[in-house]
Amino acid sequence: MLVLGIESSCDETGVAVVQTQEAGCPRLLAHALHSQIEMHQAYGGVVPELASRDHIRRVLPLAEEVLRESGRALAEVDVVAYTRGPGLAGALLVGAGVACALGAALDKPVLGVHHLEGHLLSPFLSADPPQFPFVALLVSGGHTQLMRVDGVGHYQLLGETIDDAAGEAFDKSAKLMGLGYPGGPALSRLAQQGRGDAFKLPRPLLHSGNLDFSFAGLKTAVMTQAKKLGDELEARKADLAASTEAAIVDVLVKKTMSALMATGLKRVVVAGGVGANRLLREQLDAACARCAIRVHYPELHLCTDNGAMIAMAAAMRLQSGQQTATSVYAFDVKPRWPLAEL
Ligand code: KG4
Ligand code: ZN
Repeated sequence: MLVLGIESSCDETGVAVVQTQEAGCPRLLAHALHSQIEMHQAYGGVVPELASRDHIRRVLPLAEEVLRESGRALAEVDVVAYTRGPGLAGALLVGAGVACALGAALDKPVLGVHHLEGHLLSPFLSADPPQFPFVALLVSGGHTQLMRVDGVGHYQLLGETIDDAAGEAFDKSAKLMGLGYPGGPALSRLAQQGRGDAFKLPRPLLHSGNLDFSFAGLKTAVMTQAKKLGDELEARKADLAASTEAAIVDVLVKKTMSALMATGLKRVVVAGGVGANRLLREQLDAACARCAIRVHYPELHLCTDNGAMIAMAAAMRLQSGQQTATSVYAFDVKPRWPLAEL
C-alpha cells in the first residue's frame, strides 16, 4: 500500500510517501518540506491567514517532488492522508481540501490523521524503531504531554501542561530576550555560551506528586529577571538563556522519569519540536542510562512538523486495523482535538 501524507497544521507544509511492507514498519520513500519561518519572522509569530495562503502555494509542487523522488506515479497512490487536527483551522483546511480533491480525482480513499499521533509515531521512521509499550513525552509548540502507549491507537494520558507548552515557554522566553521566532532553537543556541546555574528560575510543579506540567510562571520569572538586569541584560543574555533552558529541561526530564517509574516501563519515546533540543537529549539520555531505560528519538529533521510522520501514522493505523480510509470526501478538520479522544 502506497500512502501519500500531507501536513499543513501550522507553519510547515510537508508531503511524504510511505510504502507498507509485509513485515516491519512502513518504509519512507521520500519526503519534502517547506518551512514558512522566514515569512512569519517579520511578525514575531505565525500569522494564520498567511500560513493558509502559503500552504495553498506549496502543497502540490511538494507532492510532485516527493512522487518524482520516490519514482512513483500519482495513480499508484492507494490512500491520501492529511492532518485533520489539532492546528490552525484555515491551515488544516488546505491539507484536508487538497487530500480530498486528490482522493476524489484518483478514486482513492482518504484518511484524516491526528497531528500528535504523527509526532508520537515519528520514531518509527528511524532505522531502529521502538517496540510497544512505551512512555511518550510529547513536547511541541502547543502541547506537553506524557502518554502511556500500548500500541497504535492505544494512548493513555498520564499528565499534561495546565497552561503553556514547553515549546511555548522556549518561544515566549526567547521573545522576551529579543531572540526572534521561533525562539526554541535560537534560545538553545545562545544557551551554549552561558551557564545554566547563573540564575535561579522556578521549576513549577516539580514536586506536585502528579505528572502535570506548568510553564506559564517561568516566562514571568524570565521577564522579572530581564527587567532586574536592565542595562546588563545584553551581557548576561547567554546566562539567562542557559538558565531558562536548564529549568525547562530539568522539569521535562524529572517528570518523564517519574512517568517511567510509575508505569514500570523501560522504554521512552520523545517526540515534537522540543525533542530536537540538545540539552534535553543529553540529560534524558544520562538519566535513562542510570535506570537501564531505552530512549528513542525521531531523526533530528523529523522532530518538527513534517509530512513523513502523517503518512507513517496513517499507514500504521491502516495496518493495525485501527481505522479504514474513507471515500466520503466530506472532510471536517478539528482545530482542537485531544489525543485521548482517538
Ligand atoms: O512540533 P513542532 O514543530 O510544532 C508544533 O506542533 O507545535 O514544535 C515547534 C516547537 C516550537 O515551540 C520551537 O521553538 C520548538 O518546537 N523547538 C525547540 C527546538 N527546536 C524546535 N525548542 C527547543 N530547542 C530546540 N532545539
Ligand atoms: Zn507538531
